[in-house]
Amino acid sequence: MNRVICMSPHAGSCDKLTAGAAERTGAQTVYLRNLNISCCDGCGACAHGECKYKDDASNLLNNIRKGGKTLFVTPLYFCNFPALAKAFLDRAQAFWEKREKCESDFYLLAVGGQSEENNFRSAYLTFRAFCIAMGARFSGAEYLGRVESAADISDRDIEKAAKMLE
Ligand SMILES: Cc1cc2nc3c(=O)[nH]c(=O)nc-3n(C[C@H](O)[C@H](O)[C@H](O)COP(=O)(O)O)c2cc1C
Repeated sequence: MNRVICMSPHAGSCDKLTAGAAERTGAQTVYLRNLNISCCDGCGACAHGECKYKDDASNLLNNIRKGGKTLFVTPLYFCNFPALAKAFLDRAQAFWEKREKCESDFYLLAVGGQSEENNFRSAYLTFRAFCIAMGARFSGAEYLGRVESAADISDRDIEKAAKMLE
């Protein structure tokens, strides 16, 4: 089962992309803001076994390692993922410690108000590191600039998101 994970703390452009891509492809949707996600505090427990947190982030991280395609849709906040999304990505440290590969494909679609691609560099690098930690394939990344609200998302943008899941 393919999935689209919306990483925005707010209902707007990312929600429109998420719902549109899921509608066209039959992918499942997940909204991170509806989940209970504890922040990694670097306790180091995962280096010797399992993460001490058993919450929605643990379940979702395990599920997306079971194969299929996962598209992560995020807004840029100060050139990177919003805090809520970063808390989720940090939890992949527990998988980095295991060094196990999986047969999952991960894609990133980021939106932001700025037009320059450079603005997206930091989130791109963070996402590449997340894929490595998860043992998943980095399968593509795109940036949509000049996006401030759902009204800025066109059918072509939704088509671009859906293509990543085909
Ligand atoms: C706290 C905050 C920081 C932001 N930082 C950036 C940024 O660094 N670069 C950018 O292009 N847009 C930035 N934006 C604009 C958002 O990325 C943009 O409005 C996006 O469409 C929001 O997505 P959403 O409608 O799904 O919430 C920022 C917005 C907020 C609220």
